[in-house]
Amino acid sequence: PRSIYLSRHGESMYNLEGKIGGDADLSERGWQYARKLPNMIKNVLRINGEEEEDDDDGDEDVQLTVWTSTLKRTQQTASFLRYPKLQWKALDELDAGACDGLTYEEIEKKFPQDFKERDENKYEYRYRGGESYRDVVIRLEPIIMELERQENILIITHQAVLRCIYAYFMNVPQEESPWMSIPLHTLIKLDPRAFKTMVERIKADI
Ligand code: F6P
Repeated sequence: PRSIYLSRHGESMYNLEGKIGGDADLSERGWQYARKLPNMIKNVLRINGEEEEDDDDGDEDVQLTVWTSTLKRTQQTASFLRYPKLQWKALDELDAGACDGLTYEEIEKKFPQDFKERDENKYEYRYRGGESYRDVVIRLEPIIMELERQENILIITHQAVLRCIYAYFMNVPQEESPWMSIPLHTLIKLDPRAFKTMVERIKADI
C-alpha cells in the first residue's frame, strides 16, 4: 500500500524574520533539515516494509517521487534527495498579494481593516491582489486528483498549501484547514485507507 509523505520546506530566511510569502533561501537550520531528510525518508520507507528482501542494493527499487513548488525554499529542501522530482506551480504558497514580504505586525499597521477581516474569516479572506484559503483549495484540485492515482509521493511545500492537503486526506472540512498544525522540520506520513487515514509525525532532530 502506498503512502503520502508531507513536509514543509526547511526554515527560510523569511521564516526567521517573520515575513510572509516571498522566495527566500533556507536558513542554516533549514539546510540542516534538508540534509537530514534523505535519511528520514529512507527510514520511513524501510519501516513501511517496502523493502521486502535484503537485495543489498539498498532502497533503490522503492518507488518515490518528490513534488515541490516552484519556489527556491522547497527545491533547496529537496536538493539532497535522490528520487525523481516534479515542480508544480499549483504547490506555491498562498499568494499574499499586497502583503507579500511583510510581517504580521506590518500588515496590521498598514492594512488594519484587512487584518481584522482575516482574523474574522481566515478561510474566505482574500489578500489584496492575492489569494484566500478557498482559492488555494480550488487550485489544488488537479494535485489531489493526481495524488489519488499515484504511488508513494513526498510533497515538499508550504504551510497554507499543506494545511489544505492535510485537511483533505484527514476528512476535515476545508473551512478548518487554516488552523491545522503543520510545524516546520516534521515529516508527516499519511496512509489513506478505506475509512480513515492513518497519520504518523516524525520530528527531525535538529
Ligand atoms: O509564514 C510562513 C507562511 O508560509 C507564509 O508565507 C504564509 O502567508 C503563511 O505561512 C500562511 O499561514 P497563515 O495562513 O496562518 O498566515
